[in-house]
Amino acid sequence: MADGFATRSIHAGRLPLPAEAPLATPIWQTSTFVFDDAEHYAHTLRQPREGYVYTRYENPTTAALEATVADLEGAAEGMATASGMGAIATVLLSLASSGDHVVAQRDLYGGSYSLLAHTAPRFGVEVSFVDAGDPAAVRAALRPTTRAIYAETIANPTMTVADLPALAEVAAAADVPLVVDNTVATPYLCRPIEHGAAVVVHSATKYLGGHSDVVGGVALFAEPERHDTAWRTMIELGASPDPFAAWLVLRGVKTLSLRMRAHGANARQLAELLDAHPKVARVYWPGLPGHPTAGLAGKLLDGGPGMLSFDLEGGREAGRRFIEATRVAKLAASLGSVETLVSHPASTTHRQFSPDALAAAGIGEGMVRVSVGLEDGADLAEDFTRALEVA
Ligand SMILES: Cc1ncc(COP(=O)(O)O)c(C=O)c1O
Repeated sequence: MADGFATRSIHAGRLPLPAEAPLATPIWQTSTFVFDDAEHYAHTLRQPREGYVYTRYENPTTAALEATVADLEGAAEGMATASGMGAIATVLLSLASSGDHVVAQRDLYGGSYSLLAHTAPRFGVEVSFVDAGDPAAVRAALRPTTRAIYAETIANPTMTVADLPALAEVAAAADVPLVVDNTVATPYLCRPIEHGAAVVVHSATKYLGGHSDVVGGVALFAEPERHDTAWRTMIELGASPDPFAAWLVLRGVKTLSLRMRAHGANARQLAELLDAHPKVARVYWPGLPGHPTAGLAGKLLDGGPGMLSFDLEGGREAGRRFIEATRVAKLAASLGSVETLVSHPASTTHRQFSPDALAAAGIGEGMVRVSVGLEDGADLAEDFTRALEVA
């Protein structure tokens, strides 16, 4: 008997995979994978590297993204996630349990800070926040129960470059993994594993994706065992990415080197313009010789980053007027995309910080943060010069 209408509408179109491989990675937009025999299914569940069972565990499009970023970061394994916070939370939860302790850099991205300051303690994980620019302070904060040292390659909005080799030395001496958020640097500018990091995390929403059209994350591991532990945590937390999101990030990564060079060139031009402007009190861009971590930037970064911040004479009110006066630059959260974005950290990205924590992190009330995009440099210069006049 021929299959009925409903059966055919569901199964008739399932074609065998073509012998000719597609050049671009296909979007494997499927939640699950079909097996012909139960033993193969059971085997693949036991040996997840040998096949695909279910997209929350692994998916070919996602695996292509993981392999690409792992290669760029010099990692043994990669793990893509639904967001940068998904990667950060999964990695930290896979390393620290109740009774354990984490040492973290003080001036972190607000979401990471909030996770460590407010959520981690609810699960019995204690966190010490230290000045990561002071390796002795990091060493002094270590306890027998410390399970991770957490830092950012380039901390925004101050654009402080972390002394990764010094942090890695402290971590190695204590046999504690160094976990580094490399979102702002990207592997184009810095590969923390080369400097001794055990785990690298990214918000792929930013430069890896690069076009403000996807939310994603990825974690990279120097050792496969640490990946496997984190992966088991991730599939239980359900932090896995959607295949289409993974595909968008994968497509973005193909032009990462071109974009990072252009972001850096536009950022240099704006940093120099702002630095020479009478209404600007201070510019934070590690490519400028006066930046406190310019020396580390020269040593650890393969070029200037695409983000900068500046303090306006006139404080909070001048900052607000500036971000509302730009025309080309848009007032929006996020960073690392083709569009130039401006923001006011004290009231947005770092709103979770108390006034004391803000001051300790070096974030002034009038500070403006800029994620420099890929527009024509002349248009950005004109936009900023005009907005400075309004401010
Ligand atoms: C440095 C940094 N790390 C992590 C994140 C979190 O990433 P996501 O928004 O993709 O969860 C962000 C987001 O702004 C970030 O700027």
